Amino acid sequence: MITSQSSFPDFTLYHGDCMELLKTIPDNSVNAIFADPPYFLSNGGISCQSGKQVCVDKGDWDKGGTPEHIYNFNKQWLSLCRSKLTDDGTIWISGTHHNIHVVMRCLQELGYKILNTITWQKTDPPPNLSCRYFNFSTELIIWARKSEKRPHKFNYEVMKQLNGDKQMTDVWRIPAVGRWEKNCGKHPTQKTLRLLYRIILASTDKGDTILDPFAGSSTTGIAANLLGRKFIGIEQDAQFVALSQRRREEIDDPETAARLLKKMRENSQEQTVLINHARTSDVQLVLRTGICYMRAGDSKGSLLVKQGFENMAFVLIHTNGDNAHLFKVAKKGFQIWTAEQLQQMGFSAEHAPYYAVVRFDPNKEVPFDKLPKLKKGRQTNVADIQPISEFIGIK
Ligand SMILES: C[S@@+](CC[C@H](N)C(=O)[O-])C[C@H]1O[C@@H](n2cnc3c(N)ncnc32)[C@H](O)[C@@H]1O
Repeated sequence: MITSQSSFPDFTLYHGDCMELLKTIPDNSVNAIFADPPYFLSNGGISCQSGKQVCVDKGDWDKGGTPEHIYNFNKQWLSLCRSKLTDDGTIWISGTHHNIHVVMRCLQELGYKILNTITWQKTDPPPNLSCRYFNFSTELIIWARKSEKRPHKFNYEVMKQLNGDKQMTDVWRIPAVGRWEKNCGKHPTQKTLRLLYRIILASTDKGDTILDPFAGSSTTGIAANLLGRKFIGIEQDAQFVALSQRRREEIDDPETAARLLKKMRENSQEQTVLINHARTSDVQLVLRTGICYMRAGDSKGSLLVKQGFENMAFVLIHTNGDNAHLFKVAKKGFQIWTAEQLQQMGFSAEHAPYYAVVRFDPNKEVPFDKLPKLKKGRQTNVADIQPISEFIGIK
């Protein structure tokens, strides 16, 4: 049965076979496609799940067929997808060696232009129990555009900003799907929202439409809607359609949406900003000396081990939520100073024996678009860590 399964206008999910349903989507109507097709790897191999040996069986849809079957399957859906893309639209297809070489061949035969092959390196792969291979820690994602000649949409600057003002490379270090994104149930091959976050920001703008012909639990749709994009998905399994629907309902709650958006932005490669509240009386001195300091308690103070600290590359100084200045940290890391050292510099450090000191160049203020919520406080040393994407007005 073919039905459209959603009561959300920006989230259209069709239940059925994509080989049929793709034909009903108007040509030139989608700005980007993300597809996570069957990899055809459920063939009796073993894998490790929660420390236990398990048989690789993702479902009947993932069981391998003959090489001809795998080729014909990929050629058919990739051919149907091409005409759906706008002229500047692009397609992303994930895979492993089981399917990706066939996908590449089909793309080239169909006239797509290959743009990149992204290596997604999972930062937390399960061990390889057989010990007869290197540990499998990567998936490949081919990025291609509709045709050789027409230029494609690429938000180059946004990617560069996400990467600390350096060109983003084709190796992405992102953890596998986490428990925080499985509140509504599990899909056996669910992708992480963090991967889709990057793909969607790289290749679409707010208001654009993204299609996923193998939607599964609709990770693509959830990420798309959280980022203000429209989603069209197709899924053949009723259970996964229902799971998708629950996930979409979940983000209708603004608090849940904000929490997931925050988690989705957390990125082991993304540079972070240390937000430091300063006393009004200290601000001029902080700006003149290029020294920002936080109470550290002792050299193992909890502030120093806060998540994100390791990627700190900017510091934002403000007074009671106003008067905000953003600077690039001059040297990686920070030093521990005593209260006396700070007092000698003219500061009135009096809450703790040790302080974490961050240095920046006071003559190079960094422009930023968006001011995140700043904590008001009467004392100095109220510090927080946030990703740089919150400051640069990513759309
Ligand atoms: C690899 S999973 C996608 C997982 C998804 N990316 C997620 O994050 O949940 C592939 C999905 O495609 C579905 N599928 C396989 N063949 C299909 C077809 N011909 N039409 C529609 N869905 C199909 C399967 O049921 C499965 O849920």
